[in-house]
Formats: sequence, structure tokens, C-alpha cells
Amino acid sequence: MQSIVLCITGASGTVYGLKILEELSRGLFVHLVVSDSSFKVMEEEIGLKKEDFLKSIPENCRFYSQEEIDAPISSGSVLINTEGVIVAPCSVGTLGAVANGISSNLIHRVCDVALKEKKKLYMLVREMPLSLIHIENMKKVTLAGATVAVASPAFYHRPQTVDDMVSFVAGKVLDHFGIKHHLYRRWKDEDF
Ligand SMILES: Cc1cc2nc3c(=O)[nH]c(=O)nc-3n(C[C@H](O)[C@H](O)[C@H](O)COP(=O)(O)O)c2cc1C
Repeated sequence: MQSIVLCITGASGTVYGLKILEELSRGLFVHLVVSDSSFKVMEEEIGLKKEDFLKSIPENCRFYSQEEIDAPISSGSVLINTEGVIVAPCSVGTLGAVANGISSNLIHRVCDVALKEKKKLYMLVREMPLSLIHIENMKKVTLAGATVAVASPAFYHRPQTVDDMVSFVAGKVLDHFGIKHHLYRRWKDEDF
């Protein structure tokens, strides 16, 4: 079974991470890292407590806390055999740590390893507006090989619900990894 790493950080938009987790776990083994801040944001935004989230994790998924710096995925020897790393949502704090090589938790470390091993790293940043520091950090990780996106739902597919908007963004992330999905209607695609 193919595997992938999903990191959920404390930017607003936990729902992006949860939607991506739901889709990934349909066909891949998911190494899941959730930051301490993300648990706070999750409870704030959707009323989901850490203990309830942990109970809801799909079977083909292994959860790690941000402190588990000795997890298998912290090594290039394991990460090299995955499809890569998704950080969604990605806080500007995590972006800054990765851009500057500061591997102080497991999320920063797996991103660092993805870059050094030339694996795919997708950082779905959520912040508004962006300071020059954020923009410089985006440039740095892009030059190092990452793909950076600011979570930006589109409207041309005529979303009717918040879930439609979340699904569009999640679908765009999955597209990058070649993962098949039906999360959004493609432009002028009648066969959706
Ligand atoms: C309700 C709430 C919403 C937040 N929204 C954002 C956000 O959209 N973007 C961001 O970069 N940080 C946001 N933060 C701040 C981060 O959670 C904070 O900087 C944290 O230290 C990030 O750590 P992490 O990257 O390890 O998860 C938010 C915090 C809270 C409590």
C-alpha cells in the first residue's frame, strides 16, 4: 500500500486537513502528525476535542504527536518510500520554521527531510494578509522544492456550501499528488 504524510498545523482551516485525511485514507496509508496548536484551533473552529479526534482516526492511519521526533517518518530512509508530505493547513509559524531549517518538532522535521530527499512537499498556507517575511519564506521553500499554496477556494464551479469550497481546495492539493477524487467539478468537465 502506498503511503503519504499529512501534517495538520494550527492555522485556521482544520477542515482542510480533515477533508484531505478522509480522501487520502480511502486508498493510502496515512502517517498523520497534528500539532499541539492545531488541537486548540480544531476545538475552537469545529468543536472537535482532541480525544474525540483521536478516536475518529481511520484504521489505515498512524498518528504521531509533534513531540515524536524519533518517529520512523523523521528519517529519510522511511520518508523516501512515501508519496511525500502535505501540510494542510500550514501556519506561517511552521512555514517560517521550515524555510529556515529549524526542525524543532516532527512536522518541521518531516518537511525538512522531504526537501532534502527531493520528495513532494505541499504547504497549504492560511494567513491574511501576508507580511514580507511570509512571502520571503514562501519563496525560500519554493526554491528548495516545495509547492506553496494559500488556501483559496474558487467560485467558477459555483459552490453551494462551505463543504463545496473546502472540497475544492482539498481536491487541488490531491491533484498535485495524482490522487483520483471527485471533490470538485473540473472546468468544463461534463463527466464529473
Ligand atoms: C483560533 C486560531 C486561529 C489561528 N489562525 C491562524 C492562521 O490562520 N494562520 C496562522 O498562521 N496561524 C494561526 N493561528 C496561530 C497559530 O496557531 C500559532 O502561530 C501556532 O503557534 C502555530 O503552531 P504550529 O504551526 O506548530 O501549529 C491561529 C490560532 C488560533 C488559536
